[in-house]
Amino acid sequence: MAATTQIKQLRIATRNCGFIDPESLDDYIAQRGYEALAKVLTMTPAEVVEVIKTAGLRGRGGGGFPTGVKWGIALSNKADQKYMVCNADEGDPGAFMDRAVLEGDPHSIVEAMAIGGYAIGATLGAVYIRAEYPLAIKRLRKAIDDARAMGLLGKNIFGSGFDFDIEIKYGAGAFVCGEETALIRSMEGHRGEPVSKPPFPAQSGYWKKPTIVNNVETFANVPAIILKGADWFSSIGTATSKGTKVFALAGKIVNVGLIEVPMGTSLREVIFDIGGGCPDGKEFKAVQTGGPSGGALAHKDLDVAIDYESLIARKSMMGSGGMVVMDEDDCMVSVAKFFLDFTMDETCGKCTPCRIGSKRLFEILDKITKGHGTQADLSRMKTLCESIKDTALCGLGQTMPNPILSTMDTFANEYEAHVTQKKCPAHVCTAMLTYTIDPAKCTGCTLCTKVCPVECISGTKKQPHVIDASKCIKCGACYDKCKFDSVIKL
Ligand SMILES: Cc1cc2nc3c(=O)[nH]c(=O)nc-3n(C[C@H](O)[C@H](O)[C@H](O)COP(=O)(O)O)c2cc1C
Ligand code: SF4
Ligand code: SF4
Ligand code: SF4
Repeated sequence: MAATTQIKQLRIATRNCGFIDPESLDDYIAQRGYEALAKVLTMTPAEVVEVIKTAGLRGRGGGGFPTGVKWGIALSNKADQKYMVCNADEGDPGAFMDRAVLEGDPHSIVEAMAIGGYAIGATLGAVYIRAEYPLAIKRLRKAIDDARAMGLLGKNIFGSGFDFDIEIKYGAGAFVCGEETALIRSMEGHRGEPVSKPPFPAQSGYWKKPTIVNNVETFANVPAIILKGADWFSSIGTATSKGTKVFALAGKIVNVGLIEVPMGTSLREVIFDIGGGCPDGKEFKAVQTGGPSGGALAHKDLDVAIDYESLIARKSMMGSGGMVVMDEDDCMVSVAKFFLDFTMDETCGKCTPCRIGSKRLFEILDKITKGHGTQADLSRMKTLCESIKDTALCGLGQTMPNPILSTMDTFANEYEAHVTQKKCPAHVCTAMLTYTIDPAKCTGCTLCTKVCPVECISGTKKQPHVIDASKCIKCGACYDKCKFDSVIKL
C-alpha cells in the first residue's frame, strides 16, 4: 500500500512538509529556499507575471482563476499602494491542506508572497488566517520574523531596492470570511460580509487599493514554478488544469489524510489506490468533492480525470480540495441535508435568496427525511435550488444548492424511495425505520433487553425475542448489541 501511495503522488505544494524543520530558516534555504525570490528580482515584474501565466497555475482556493492573469490585472492597475493577501481562512469542514502547508513549510508562503508582491508592485502583504490554527500562526509568525531579520523581508530585499513586508490578520472562523470580498471587509475591521463584484479586488480591494487574494496552496506552487520553469509545471496535469492538487481524504476511507496528486488523476486512483477504498469491505457509494458547496460523484464517475472542468461538468467542483467518501450505509438525502445544514448556518444573511432560501430548502429536506415528503416537494426543491443559484450575491449562496442538485440527479432513486415508498434505502432516516427481530436467528441471549432504554423488547431466555414497535424509539442500541445479526432494520 505504501509503495502505491508514493508512486501515485507528486508533491509540489507540499514538497517540504515533513522533510524540513518548519521553524528553521536554514533548513528552508538548504532546499533552495528564497532562491526563487532572488531570481525574480533580476527579472521585470511583467516577466514574472508571464512565467506564472505560461505555467498555467490556477487558484487552488476554489474558483480556479488563472493566477498569472489576476496578477497581470493588478500589475496594470496603477496605484500608490497595492496589497498581496494570502487567504488562509480554510473553512471547509475536514479540510486542512492550507494548515499543513503553513505548519510544515511557512517560509514557502512568505517567499511566494514576496514574489507576488514584486510581480504586482505591492510593498505590503497580509495573511488572513483563522485563529483556530495556533500552530500555523506560531510558525508563520516565526518565519516572517526570521525572514525579516535576515533581510529577506523589509526594506531593500537582496539590495534590489524592492521593499516588502507581511502582517498577520486573524479570522474568527466564519466560512463566509474565506470569500475574498468578505475577507477584505473583515481585514478592514468590518463585519465579514461579501460585496458585489465588480469591482474585483485586483481593481479595488483592501482599503480600495488593487489587491490580490490568493490561496495558501496557490502560493506554495509559486517558488517551485520560478525555479523549475513554466514549461516544467505546465507539463504536469491536464490540458486546462496544470500542476498538482492537494486533497484532504475524509469519511469512509481507509487512508484518511492529505495527498497531493497530478491534476488528471482519476477518482478511482485517489479513492482506491491511494485511499485504500472503504473500510470493513463496504461498498463505495459516493464522494463529495468541493466541500459543503460541492457535489456528490458516484461509481459512474470513478474514471473521471480530476480537473476543474471535469468536476464542474458533473455538477460538482474542485473547491479547495476536500473529499468526503460515502459508503453503502450512507443515505444521500441525509448527506445533502448535512451539507445544507452547514451552509445554512454559515450564511451571512445579507441577501434574501441565501438567507431565507436555505431555510426553506432545509425544511423540505427535513420533511423528506422524516417520511412526509411528496413529489411536489422534489420539484419545488429543484426550482428553489435553481433560483438561489441564479440570484444569491456571493459564491456561498450560489453554490449552496450543489449537494442537493447533484444528489437529486445521481441518486434520484433514493429521493423517490423517500417520497413515494416512505423508505430510506440506506436505513439512515430513523423516522422511516422499523426495528424487528428475526426469530430464525435470535438465540434468546437477552443482551438486547439489557440495553433497550425503553424496555420494549420481551422474550424468554433461549427463546426468540420480540420488539414492541409502538414503544420503540429507534435508538439502534439493540441492533448494535446483537452478536447474531438477529435485529433487522426495515
Ligand atoms: C463561501 C466561500 C468561502 C471561501 N473560502 C475560501 C477559503 O477558505 N480559502 C481560499 O483560499 N479561498 C476561499 N474562497 C475563494 C476566495 O473567494 C478566492 O477566490 C480565493 O481566495 C482566491 O485565491 P486563488 O485564486 O488562489 O484560489 C471562498 C469562496 C467562497 C464563496
Ligand atoms: S449569498 Fe449568502 S453568504 Fe453570500 S452575501 Fe448572500 S447571504 Fe451572505
Ligand atoms: S441480542 Fe440478538 S440474539 Fe440476543 S435476544 Fe436480542 S435479538 Fe435475540
Ligand atoms: S431500537 Fe432502541 S428502543 Fe427500539 S427496540 Fe432497539 S433498543 Fe429498544
